[in-house]
Amino acid sequence: SLGIRRKVWQREDIMRTLPRRDPFSHKGSHGKGLLIAGSQQMPGAAFFAAKAALRSGIGLLKVSVPDQVRPIIAAHLPETMFMPRTAADFQGLSGLAVGPGLGREPEQAALVRRVLEYEEIPCVIDADGIYHLKSMLDLLRERRIPAVLSPHPGEMAHLLDLSVKDVEVSRFNVSKAFAEKYHVYLVLKGKNTIITAPDGEQAVNVTGNAALAKGGSGDVLTGILFAFLLQHRRMMDAVCNAVYLHGAVADDLVRSGHSMLDVLASDLIDRIPPVLHHLY
Ligand code: APR
Ligand code: MG
Repeated sequence: SLGIRRKVWQREDIMRTLPRRDPFSHKGSHGKGLLIAGSQQMPGAAFFAAKAALRSGIGLLKVSVPDQVRPIIAAHLPETMFMPRTAADFQGLSGLAVGPGLGREPEQAALVRRVLEYEEIPCVIDADGIYHLKSMLDLLRERRIPAVLSPHPGEMAHLLDLSVKDVEVSRFNVSKAFAEKYHVYLVLKGKNTIITAPDGEQAVNVTGNAALAKGGSGDVLTGILFAFLLQHRRMMDAVCNAVYLHGAVADDLVRSGHSMLDVLASDLIDRIPPVLHHLY
């Protein structure tokens, strides 16, 4: 009916919009991002998001994790630069991502606020970043470049003071109202993830399966989203392609070599290369 713009994001869409690398490009051409993530309780979330961003083509990645976990994370991310939380300087960056495993202490809220206030470059806000966002939603509308939020239904319900059931029974409408009101790209996760642009345009994803229903898979999506945002011209293409790829990787795993039960976040990251190879 009038004014409804929804599409199923398909293989042909990602094939058409995935950016080809300019042969004369250099690392600066593919984004310089800072990921603020991880905590002593959840160091792995920072690792998963970082590794997924690197596997998805980000040019340069800096990671900010708490001092206590930096050595162990750094040992697993030799391609990455590290930045102390307290000294995080956003100068010269082309994107920010905040939230996976961040923790819910008030001092983390200040980091989320700083990211939101840095409005000249794209940002991805996920997980505990979304938790903190609730007290500063008004900042979203002020941004020149819209933020990308990737809540699961529980996080969406938290932001809106609704029950998870309220969110789940009207996923399209809840997403559209929120994305338009706060001027964000909203990724409402779950089976058939819905992507909504600030102007209300919507896409639904049909890749992915229940193998993704395991801690860590959302962190992998954050990393892919982050890397793709810094490499696409249109933000909607970046977000839809990231969600498509994340699901396609899970589908590929259960088609060959894995069951629905055994897939780990690390397996998703390791399967990005062959799936991207076929899309490229
Ligand atoms: N079918 C298809 N996709 C699915 C399914 C399913 N049945 N179940 C989950 N997924 C996908 C979602 O669409 C999403 O992309 O897996 C991902 C899960 O993301 P999250 O719910 O964020 O899961 P998780 O990785 O555990 O998040 C880590 O952050 O969100 C917080 O509280 C959460 O502590 C947890 C942490
Ligand atoms: Mg999550």
